Amino acid sequence: MHIDIITVLPELIQSPFEHSILKRAQQKGLVSVNLINLRDYATNKHKNIDDYCYGGGAGMVMMIEPIANCIDDLKSKTVYDEIIYMTPDGDTLNQKMANTYSTLNNILVLCGHYKGIDERIREIYITKEISIGDYVLSGGELAAAVFCDSVIRLIPGVLNDETSALSDSFQDDLLSPPVYTRPADFKGYKVPDVLLSGHAGEIEKWRFEQAINRTKSKRPDLLKEN
Ligand code: ADE
Repeated sequence: MHIDIITVLPELIQSPFEHSILKRAQQKGLVSVNLINLRDYATNKHKNIDDYCYGGGAGMVMMIEPIANCIDDLKSKTVYDEIIYMTPDGDTLNQKMANTYSTLNNILVLCGHYKGIDERIREIYITKEISIGDYVLSGGELAAAVFCDSVIRLIPGVLNDETSALSDSFQDDLLSPPVYTRPADFKGYKVPDVLLSGHAGEIEKWRFEQAINRTKSKRPDLLKEN
């Protein structure tokens, strides 16, 4: 998979890709990520990428020309499966969406700032609009990092033990069961006996029951969806 990310703040989004699983995914050649500085496509001598909002009102709007020039340039080199705009009014990201996006070859992600982008960019170029939740961030960069992390970890081969992604919370509309590690007894707080029993079948059954109970009590909406 290849991901291009258009941003006015490349430094802000760089770090998540330089550590841990996302770093290893790139080292293994399973994904490549390229940050594109939108300011490189600014059309005036001041390198402006935002302007006043037509009709008045507070806040600046990201101008159409720099974004259009940037996307046109990228599209001349790459055929994208999706051109995604990170925005609080997009479809709320969930595990099913992450699964779907993890099967794509080329994704372009546009990070917004200020009051948003000129609406015509959405009409002309954007194929998907994604929100990471019902709250407003200062810009799309952190949202893009969250989106990319959720997708990249699902690419086959990225996680050492692929089943660990399959047993993630939400993967089958269930929250994950509790997990424990040593010591088996911490000041009287004990690990459930079944996990120490060595009975694979019993352990699997216990984990499934725990996942159901946890989902029922914390996120009953997930069970209702089916
Ligand atoms: N940009 C600002 N807030 C956002 C959100 N909640 N999701 C995606 N992009 C955003």
